[in-house]
Amino acid sequence: MTATRHLIGLLLGTEEDWPRAFKEILRRLGPVAGAGGTQHVFDCERITIEPFGLRDRPRYDLVIDRLAYWYYHPREWLKKVALMDGVYLLNSPFTVQSMEKHAAYCAMMRLGLKVPETVLVPYKNPVDNARYASTAAQYNRPFDLDAIAERIGYPLFMKPYDGGAWRGVSRIGNPAELHAAYNQSGGMLMHLQKAIDDYDVFARSLSIGAETMVMRFQPDQPMHLRYAVDHDFLSPQIGAEVVTIGRLVNAFFRWDFNSCETLVKDGEVYPIDYANACPDVALTSLHYYFPWAMKALVKWSVYALVTGRRAKLDLETDRYFDIADDAGASYAEKLDAYRDLADAYFEPERYHDFCASRLAHVDEIVLDWVAGPDFDQLLTRTVRSTYPAHEHDQFIAHLRGLLGLWVRDESTRLRPA
Ligand SMILES: Nc1ncnc2c1ncn2[C@@H]1O[C@H](COP(=O)(O)OP(=O)(O)O)[C@@H](O)[C@H]1O
Ligand SMILES: [Mg+2]
Repeated sequence: MTATRHLIGLLLGTEEDWPRAFKEILRRLGPVAGAGGTQHVFDCERITIEPFGLRDRPRYDLVIDRLAYWYYHPREWLKKVALMDGVYLLNSPFTVQSMEKHAAYCAMMRLGLKVPETVLVPYKNPVDNARYASTAAQYNRPFDLDAIAERIGYPLFMKPYDGGAWRGVSRIGNPAELHAAYNQSGGMLMHLQKAIDDYDVFARSLSIGAETMVMRFQPDQPMHLRYAVDHDFLSPQIGAEVVTIGRLVNAFFRWDFNSCETLVKDGEVYPIDYANACPDVALTSLHYYFPWAMKALVKWSVYALVTGRRAKLDLETDRYFDIADDAGASYAEKLDAYRDLADAYFEPERYHDFCASRLAHVDEIVLDWVAGPDFDQLLTRTVRSTYPAHEHDQFIAHLRGLLGLWVRDESTRLRPA
């Protein structure tokens, strides 16, 4: 019997840790049975950046991208392989690259989500274009920044309309801070957004296809402590709402791999940052949750390839807007209807059936690997390449502790006494 070979391409920046983990889990997984007794085998490799003909056939069947947000050449290659070659991309390159945070705010406000009040203000400094000054002189109306802030109410956040990685984000408590931050913003285009202050919990959900991990996030901590290991920090109802919001965003924009930040206060869920497609999945930041993320990435990729899942490039927004415009439906009813659309897109039941029948061994494989010496080597190598020498011992111990905890919890889950 001949097997179908699938090559998975990884489009990467400088990261070494998760690609190695992904490749290793894929290798240990081995061939996977498809429909009608077919066999599927997988390999993966880093994609290099080369000239490409627009009619060239790519070697890859699926690509996971963490680079194209930053560079034009791979970005345009992704659009080409999505449009011309049916390569399965975890995120639609059209929405990732043309819709920044701002468009994501607009879309989810349109659907009635509780995105805090947000105003876009014009550039502080002229953009670098010879015609800007004369155009601005004609069209830029003077505006009262203080009045806008008063209307939103303090405290508020000023942050770039296309932000990421906390670049240019500041919390503003009064008019003096408002003007200082605006003067500083220079050539960045800024949102002013009402702060959700004194929230009860910051829930950050990471979705990979039909799986979502909701984690308690501590933004004021250093990177390695931001994700708290905490399993019961949301009521079942709020937890379900957070998952639904993440899946809704992803189904709406055709993203399979995205993280969504929500603030929970007095039983209400406020989404504040959910256009983070291709999010950070570094071992040093995800720690305890790293094995879950790697496993989910492998499982979803294998599922997509074996079942011949096709990426959708059209958004069919009317299906969402019709729900949003249903005057008789409550917020909770709309969320349920959005969840149905998201489920139709991600097919969680079909995915879980597939995992149970074809990938039943993956949990044991990953547990053995994480508990063993190869993973420890990955861990120590990652720490050595991430932190200065005097911090190596501290971070190796820190990560070993958290991954050891995961191994204990996972062993209990898989092999209950
Ligand atoms: N409206 C808000 N209310 C409360 N905190 C906020 C708000 N907006 C941003 N923050 C805080 O600022 C951080 C960075 O803002 P965010 O919108 O997530 O930008 P980035 O895309 O750079 O991560 C958030 O993680 C959160 O801690
Ligand atoms: Mg954020």
